[in-house]
Order: sequence, then structure tokens, then C-alpha cells
Amino acid sequence: MALQTGPSGSQVSTSTSPAEEAFIICDNLVKIYKVADLEAVALQGLDLQVQRGELMAIIGNSGSGKSTLMNILGGLDRPSAGRVFVGGRDLLKMTEAQLVRYKRDVVGFVWQNTARNMLPYLTAIENVELPMVIAGRYGPKERQWARELLEVVGLSGRAKHKLSELSGGEQQRVAIAIGLANRPPLLLADEPTGSVDTRTAATIFDMFRQIRDQYGTTIVIVTHDPKVMSKVDRVVAIRDGKTSTETIRRVAIDMADFAAGSIVLGETHDEFVVLDGAGRLQIPREYLEKLSIKKKVRLDLEGDQIIIRPIPSEEADDKDQDSRHRRWGFR
Ligand SMILES: Nc1ncnc2c1ncn2[C@@H]1O[C@H](COP(=O)(O)OP(=O)(O)OP(=O)(O)O)[C@@H](O)[C@H]1O
Ligand SMILES: [Mg+2]
Repeated sequence: MALQTGPSGSQVSTSTSPAEEAFIICDNLVKIYKVADLEAVALQGLDLQVQRGELMAIIGNSGSGKSTLMNILGGLDRPSAGRVFVGGRDLLKMTEAQLVRYKRDVVGFVWQNTARNMLPYLTAIENVELPMVIAGRYGPKERQWARELLEVVGLSGRAKHKLSELSGGEQQRVAIAIGLANRPPLLLADEPTGSVDTRTAATIFDMFRQIRDQYGTTIVIVTHDPKVMSKVDRVVAIRDGKTSTETIRRVAIDMADFAAGSIVLGETHDEFVVLDGAGRLQIPREYLEKLSIKKKVRLDLEGDQIIIRPIPSEEADDKDQDSRHRRWGFR
């Protein structure tokens, strides 16, 4: 199996940009929750880099560590090991006061549960103004900014409505405006479309793109929505607390049309397998199953390719025995 030309076109990716340039850098993040005597490993050596102004999504099964990662990036939780930088700040070296400023000014949060985002007895505009009031910034400029944000999320006409008078989708759009109130360079959204219908979800994803384009905000969205691929620049999949694959959206020119005299822009998606800091990669489960690969493979460097070959089962068994013998000093 040659990963460079694998059946579904998977390619191997090492980090291409230097670490200093990325806006978010997660380096070998580990998070272990201890409940009574039990330990749950939520993140196990997760590496991730997000560029400034990138609009990206994180997908993964329930329990794969997505919310854990978002909480760490948002400064709400600390990793058990590893390093995390946002905009050049080392989140683990911040004092409590710096962390408070970070949560107020650098990062905005949108949660799936709208109740967590806002106060129901205030109007939409009051809710958007509230983070600025709490930060001690409130005047004509801020009021104008709150109005602009409601316009961005398409709710100018609902500014004076109490939240209880808005639909779930509208409330979630207010939540996005609230998340942007203090002009954070980073917006984190944990399943922002989890409780809205498909059409509203598409509108919300379009809004994230518009916000990124207009304000340059770096946006990280956790989602289960399979349609996210066409709405963001990059999708990173987390499996068992580690980044496993990433898919990058590209705009492609249809060469047939180009030759015929017109240019048609289409979309292609390149899928990559991610290498961690130690050079390990996760091979997609379906590849392993197709070639009956269990514990070992043969790895050969051939020209500009690394070939991963299954080992015939008998040979693998022999090798297992060999290594056991060597370990126990039988020869
Ligand atoms: N506060 C906590 N205490 C103990 N264990 C936790 C805590 N938070 C998360 N976990 C565990 O860590 C693992 C990752 O949880 P996390 O909430 O990050 O998953 P997720 O990918 O967001 O899942 P979902 O898609 O269901 O939201 C799970 O096994 C979970 O049970
Ligand atoms: Mg979650």
C-alpha cells in the first residue's frame, strides 16, 4: 500500500509551516481526567496547528476529545501535559489575571446549548452589549458595534426582541454575535449547529465564513455535520484523542473547460494522514482491514515513496515468536 497514491487518494502530511507562524499551536497535548480511582484519557498526544484567519472544523466520534480540546484552547481547562500557544501566548504560563484577560479579549465562545451563551430576560442587542459592559467598555462606539454584529448575523430586525421571543436558530445567531462582542481574534464554536435544522446550519456556516472574511477572525468549529467539508478551509478528524486525518478544500480549475475557452471553478478535497511529532501516523481503519494488517507492517523506502506492505500472517507469527525468543534469551 503506497500512501501517496492510496485508493482514495490519501496523502501523508507533515506540518509545512514553521511553528512560529501558526496562530494556534498544540504540541503533544495530553488530558487525563481523574474521577474517583478511574482515569479517562481524553487527549493522548494531540498535535494541531491553525493558521491566523483560518476557518477550520474538527470532527470526531463522541468522546474523542473535541470539547476537551476546545476547553483547553478557550482557557477553561488545563492539559495534563504538552504545550499550547495561541497568538504567541503560552497558555500554561499565564497568571490568573492574564487568563481572565485572555478569556475576555482573545477568545470568543459559542456553545451548542444556547442557554450557556446568553441571558433570556435581556433583548438580543443587550445580550451582545453585555460582554463589553462587563469588560468596562461601553459607549456609542460599542452600541454601534453591537448593531453591526446583529446585522452580520442577519438579525437587525430582531434587536429589541427578548431572547425568549426568538427561534432556536435566531438565538444561536445572537450567540455568535455575543462571541464576537469583544472583538476576539479567535472564535471557538463547540457544535454550534447541534440543535438547529439543516437549512439553519448551512446559514450559520456561511455566517462563520463571512465573519472570517470580514474581520479576519480565526474560527475553530466542532461539528458532526457532514456537510461542513464544503463550508470550511480544512477539516481535522480526531480519533481517540489524537488528530488522525485532515482534509483541505481547494478550488480547482476544470482543465477541459479551460481548454474549451472557459474557466470553471470547482472544488476538490485533498485528504491527508497526519504525522505526530514523533513521526507516527494513524492508518485509516478500513485500509488496515482491507489488507488484514494487525500489528506489524513492512516499511520500504522506494524512490520518493514510502511503501507500507502487509506481512503474510505466518511470517508475522514467526517474527512474533522470534522476538519473544530473543527477549527471553532463548538464543
Ligand atoms: N470533566 C470530565 N471528567 C471526567 N471525564 C471527562 C470529563 N470531560 C470529558 N471527559 C471524558 O473525556 C473523554 C473526551 O470527552 P469530550 O467531551 O472531550 O469528547 P467529545 O469529543 O467532545 O464528545 P461529544 O461529541 O460527545 O461531545 C470522554 O471519554 C469523556 O468521558
Ligand atoms: Mg463535545
